[in-house]
Order: sequence, then structure tokens, then C-alpha cells
Amino acid sequence: MQTQVAILGAGPAGLFLSHLLHLQGIDSIVIESRSRDYVEGRLRAGVLEKGTVDALVEAGLGESLLREGLRHKEINFRFGGRNHTLDLDDLSGGRYVTVYGQQKVVKDIIAARMAAQGKILFETKAEEILGIETTNPRVRIVTKNGEQQEISCELVAGCDGFHGISRETIPSSILKTFERVYPFAWLGILAEAPPIFNCVTNVYHEERGFALLSMRSRTLSRLYMQCDPNEKLEDWPDERIWDELERRLEGTEKCTLVRGPILNKGITPMRSFVAEPMSYRRLFLAGDSAHIVPPTGAKGMNLAMADIRVLAPAMIDYFKTGATRLLDAYSDTCLRRVWKVERFSWSVTSMTHNFPEESRFDRRMRSATLDYLTSSKASGTTFAENFVGLPLENSEVQDSERDPRTVML
Ligand code: FAD
Ligand code: DHB
Repeated sequence: MQTQVAILGAGPAGLFLSHLLHLQGIDSIVIESRSRDYVEGRLRAGVLEKGTVDALVEAGLGESLLREGLRHKEINFRFGGRNHTLDLDDLSGGRYVTVYGQQKVVKDIIAARMAAQGKILFETKAEEILGIETTNPRVRIVTKNGEQQEISCELVAGCDGFHGISRETIPSSILKTFERVYPFAWLGILAEAPPIFNCVTNVYHEERGFALLSMRSRTLSRLYMQCDPNEKLEDWPDERIWDELERRLEGTEKCTLVRGPILNKGITPMRSFVAEPMSYRRLFLAGDSAHIVPPTGAKGMNLAMADIRVLAPAMIDYFKTGATRLLDAYSDTCLRRVWKVERFSWSVTSMTHNFPEESRFDRRMRSATLDYLTSSKASGTTFAENFVGLPLENSEVQDSERDPRTVML
């Protein structure tokens, strides 16, 4: 098989890239190891930055998003048993976030790609990327029937998530990784129960730790709480989950959790991770294959989409004019913003989660930090600016500043 861009992974990053390339007449093949049903049903992120929504709408993918997405102009913090609201609209100069499930974004883009006869090879695994240092790279794939084939292309996009094969294609002498694994995980549920608050609520309880009350609609709650990373789902029968959430919500300002049938349950490990550089010759990493953030702060999918908002115009410029300037600058351009978003996600995680072996003093400091955040305009503005989404970095990196390892042939 032959195409202009071979894209590994049909997550939000790979799908959005194939759609944007198609709009400019550029051919791609998306290779996805899972089935279409699986990727469309995978429950994950839910909070979209304004920049992500604007990019989807501009690309003609906004029909359901604009109809069903819930606009949130506020965010709540509950600590010391009381609620405190940050007015995102006021603090960020009229910006907001939109609650719309990641699986819906994925579904919308797959529908658009299918309508345009786009090529997505489901249940096909990318096994190896070959010849990345030549002008004609190839991707070796295996279909669900065990058939081996090669896709020959000009550029490769590694959008295959944290466990994919793209990142390891970069020689180990060049690839540098930075990682922090947190000593807790998130237990997340989707429940058929109306949300108690009408905006996302981060909860901190000095003894019991973090919980998050989010939603997917006016009748579906998406709830999370920190748990021990070694715990299994079997350790958490439904009643224990509701009881523990209730304890984290206790306080003088009462709020009553509505219990309902739990439709989905999962435990997610928490890590911060960055791979540098994000490109090597004709391979370009985007999304979770290049970086992971802990979910506190709701940045993972937004960061994946931001990479594509830089990568797609760079690839389009290359195919239209032959210029490699934007592709050569891709890694540096993205990494500046990636590190700022890593910093935000790490800081919100540290501010709201209990760590093992802390003293009472450490936990009171966390409450004081939250008190400052919700009572100081300066602190609130900093949070709001990051939560609604930092602007994309300018791609005009000077030649002298460019990382020579990322330059194409
Ligand atoms: P992925 O979605 O991981 O897609 C990669 C794809 O590549 C997968 O479909 C995989 O099957 C495929 N693949 C892997 N290896 C191969 C191979 N060898 N061959 C072929 N295909 C392959 N982010 C937010 O922005 N906001 C939130 O509110 C938020 N909440 C989250 C809550 C939870 C519980 C979790 C787990 C994550 C959350 N995130 C959030 C993070 C977000 O879901 C991810 O950052 C996002 O999915 C990254 O998209 P991606 O396209 O880079 O990777
Ligand atoms: C979700 C919301 C958040 O604010 C967050 O930090 C992580 C996840 C959600 O709705 O899934």
C-alpha cells in the first residue's frame, strides 16, 4: 500500500490529523490495532479547551459538539467542607471549557472520515517503522487475519499512545525521557445519576484525599477519586465507592450525592512523562506517544489536539511547497507548550492529592494553597488561564535555536 502520510493510531490525535490532511487533499492511511467499536466506546477525557473546540468546529466537526457540549464558565473547589467557585469567564477574559466526551469526538471524526472514504485500518497492528532515515519510510503491519503487509509513505505520524511503537523508533542515543510516577491512581466511574453541581468540582479532604465530580450530561455523572495504585477493581464494589465519595464530601456546607447505577468503572495509573525530541527525520510523534499528564487539570486530549494543530499545517506546507521549515521546527514548537502544560497538571495534582508519609502540616498547607487560589484574583487568574487553555506557541523558531536532531532529510 502507498500513501503520503502513514498515521499510527486512531485516537483523537491520529484521527484529527487524517481529517485535516484530507481537507487539503493530502492522502493518509490510519492504522489502528483495536476495533472501531472499541475505540468509539473507550471512556476517557471529557473537558475540552476553547482552542480544541474552535479547531474542531473550524474543521467542520462541530455539529454534535455545539449541540450537545456543555459550556462551563465556572469551576468549583470544595475543601474544608465548603464550596468555592472560580469564575473562569471573568478571570480569563470571556473564555470557558466544554464538557463533551472524548469517545464522542472520536466517533464524530471517524464518521467524517468514513463519509469521505478515508482509509482507517481497524484491527491492524503496526509492528515496525522501517527506513525512517530515508526519503521512503515504510510501516510493517499485521492484519487481524495475521497477514503481513507494508505501507510505503513520505511521512509517518506516531499517534499510537503511550504504549505504541513509534517512540522507540527514535534511536536511544537521541531520545531523552523525563518521568514521574505518582504514588496513587484514579478510580473513575460513570453513573446514571444527575450531577450535584452544574460545573466540574475538585474536592480535597485533608484525611481522605482527592475526589472529582464531573459529568457527561444532565443525567450522567463522571466521578473520580484518588486510590492506592495497587488496588484492583474487585476491591471496589459499588457501595464502597459511593460510601468513600460521600466521606470525601462531608463538611459544614452539606451536599448530597445522588447514587445511581454504575455503568463503567476503571482504575488509571498517574504519571507525568515527556519524550524529547518529538520528531526524528520523517517521524513525528503527537499526543500520548510523546507525553503523558496526570488527568488532574483535564489536559491530555487537549494537548494531543494542540500537537495536531501544529503538525497538520506543517505537513500541509511541506506537501504544497516542499518546504521543511515548519516540520523541522515542530518538536521545539510543541515542547515549549508541552512543558507548561506538564507543569500545570503536576501542580494541580500536587495541590489536591494526598501523598504517603506526609505530616498534618503538609496537608494543612494544601488547604491553605486552595484557600489562596479561590480568594486571590492573581492566583485564580493563573489557574483560569491554564485551565481554559494556553495559546499555541508561535512556530517561528530561529534556525540557530532549532534542535538539529529533528531536521528532515
Ligand atoms: P490514544 O487515545 O491513546 O490513541 C492511541 C491509539 O493508538 C489507540 O487507539 C491505540 O489502540 C492505538 N495503537 C497503539 N499501539 C498501536 C500499534 N502498534 N498499531 C496500531 N495502533 C496502535 N484528557 C483531557 O484532555 N481531558 C480530560 O478530561 C481527560 N481525562 C482523562 C481521564 C482518564 C480516566 C484517562 C485515562 C485519560 C484522560 N485524559 C484526559 C487523557 C486523554 O484521554 C489522552 O491524553 C488522549 O486519549 C490522547 O490521545 P492520543 O490520540 O494521543 O492517544
Ligand atoms: C474530567 C474532568 C476534569 O476536570 C479532569 O481534571 C479530568 C477528567 C472528566 O470529565 O472526565
